[in-house]
Amino acid sequence: MTNSKFANEVLKGLSLKNKKLPSWLIFDSRGSEIFNEITKLENYHPARCELEIFNIHKSALSKVFSSAPTQLIELGSGDGEKTMVLIRELIQDGVEIQYTPIDISEGAIEQLVNTLNQNFKTPSLNVTGLVADYFEGLASITNNSDKRKMVLFLGVTLNNMDIPDGKSFLKKLHQSLQNDDYLLIGFDLMKSPKLLYQSYNDPLFEKFNLHLLDRVNECLGANFNKSFFVQQCHYNPKTQAVESFLYSTRKQTIHIKALNKDFEFAEWEGLQTEQSFKYSIQSIEKLACESGFKIAENFYDSQRYFVDSLWQVIK
Ligand SMILES: C[S@@+](CC[C@H](N)C(=O)[O-])C[C@H]1O[C@@H](n2cnc3c(N)ncnc32)[C@H](O)[C@@H]1O
Repeated sequence: MTNSKFANEVLKGLSLKNKKLPSWLIFDSRGSEIFNEITKLENYHPARCELEIFNIHKSALSKVFSSAPTQLIELGSGDGEKTMVLIRELIQDGVEIQYTPIDISEGAIEQLVNTLNQNFKTPSLNVTGLVADYFEGLASITNNSDKRKMVLFLGVTLNNMDIPDGKSFLKKLHQSLQNDDYLLIGFDLMKSPKLLYQSYNDPLFEKFNLHLLDRVNECLGANFNKSFFVQQCHYNPKTQAVESFLYSTRKQTIHIKALNKDFEFAEWEGLQTEQSFKYSIQSIEKLACESGFKIAENFYDSQRYFVDSLWQVIK
């Protein structure tokens, strides 16, 4: 991500009446490390449930690859833990795999490629990690291959997008793919707000969200002091999203050198740093249809808290 894109997002977000920054700004190498620690928390159900989905349904997923030569591409791959379950299954089933993980976090890609090289010493697996934005990465592949594609978009990455942004992301993705290509996309489903509260209020979330202030200090020369902010998450029934806020514990002025601008925070003013919209199966079906895909199959965990939905491109 360029510094000017980062700067524009920060300027836009901190100038809003209700200050709000997108969570993808948190993801440098350190941000990815903290996120990986979150995915290991017992209470953080999305990662646990999605890993279970891959373990339960790996054989069905592998069959999709056996039916035609398929290239595996992952957008926002992170640590690739779930994908490795699938890769192991594909190798066992004798499938040749060309895997391209794409992530803006350089540390995440480096770590993933090293782990794959250590864990899978076989010529059946060919890995090309790309440190890039989703669509830049995808464009470089789209132009180079005529194999059918299986794009993975796992975790809660779509849940984190504003609803209109999610729709335009999926429409753009549809345009980048060919008829009959596949998209396997993760959705955290609506469930008890009590459970959502437990999932999102571990001290690690505070560390993760406060890291955004480190990022703004580092990239734009700001003077945020992390000890003057506290973080909390709640489920908001009006937006149907879990929302995370950093609250300013005092009245303070933040100067951002690169923007040559001051931003005022009132005592206990909130800065929204994350959101995770919760979906129903009906809303997922509507979204697939509106963005040009057909649902081939839904893969659930045993509690039906999460779904990985396999979509096929219709052109
Ligand atoms: C919520 S994490 C999910 C990671 C992984 N898919 C999982 O299921 O655990 C989102 C990932 O997307 C990456 N990411 C965010 N915005 C991106 C962008 N515009 N282009 C590429 N990667 C991006 C982040 O660095 C991070 O690794």
